[in-house]
Amino acid sequence: MNKINFKPTTNNVGCFVETDLKILDRSKIKQIKLNLDNYGVLFFKDQSLTPQEYMNFSSYFGSPAKYPMLKPHNDFKHIYVIERKKSDTGKSFGEGYHTDSQYLENPPRYTFLQAIDVPSEGIGNTLFSNQFLAYQALPGDLKKKINKLKGLFSSQGKIADTRVQREKEHGTNGTKEIKAIHKIVQTINGKKSIYCSPGHLIKFINCDSNQERLISFLSSHQIKKEFTYSYSWKKGDIAIWSNRSMLHAATAFNGDRKMFRITIQ
Ligand SMILES: [Fe+2]
Repeated sequence: MNKINFKPTTNNVGCFVETDLKILDRSKIKQIKLNLDNYGVLFFKDQSLTPQEYMNFSSYFGSPAKYPMLKPHNDFKHIYVIERKKSDTGKSFGEGYHTDSQYLENPPRYTFLQAIDVPSEGIGNTLFSNQFLAYQALPGDLKKKINKLKGLFSSQGKIADTRVQREKEHGTNGTKEIKAIHKIVQTINGKKSIYCSPGHLIKFINCDSNQERLISFLSSHQIKKEFTYSYSWKKGDIAIWSNRSMLHAATAFNGDRKMFRITIQ
């Protein structure tokens, strides 16, 4: 089946894509890319890609990035394994809204996640918050204010504590702090989005008014219910999102779950 259909989620936070990812061609990839830029996150259900096929699919979107804080797949060095066991205590990896690695000078543009083993439906969901919609809903004066704003982001931001367990397992705990400055508003295909990871933001660097009040307003505005969607995983599912227009968060759960992640530069 080489057909492809796009069905937006409620509130247009993201979009379901009905297709078979084992069969790819130029036109299909073009439509997927267009919709990814448009919606920010795409969900592909009922897939059964091998690690090689998964890597091939991701290669249409750019080059794979390194992520030294997670354990790589035994045979595919750019696939990183996010695994949680029933016996694990503490927070889930990535709990708390963020975009991936905004503390880097050149953060990954896209993230791919594939469900290898998941608990029952509705457990271990991933939350997404659409930052095109969040930007659109801001009052005009605030849009103007943040258009030129820059933020300082750190690998030791408040989300760092969800990484501790995974880093210990992998022997990379105690890594040096990494920081970068980024513009808070990004334009993708002519549409503006808020690019500001609450899990990594330290401060705004060119803010002339009450900094704390703005951070607190913006971080709660970015994740208002009307911009968010909770995705429930099934084995084989793949989600792709743009780190420039979508915040995401793991949810707390108890159970065995294994996911394969690829980030794209
Ligand atoms: Fe993440």
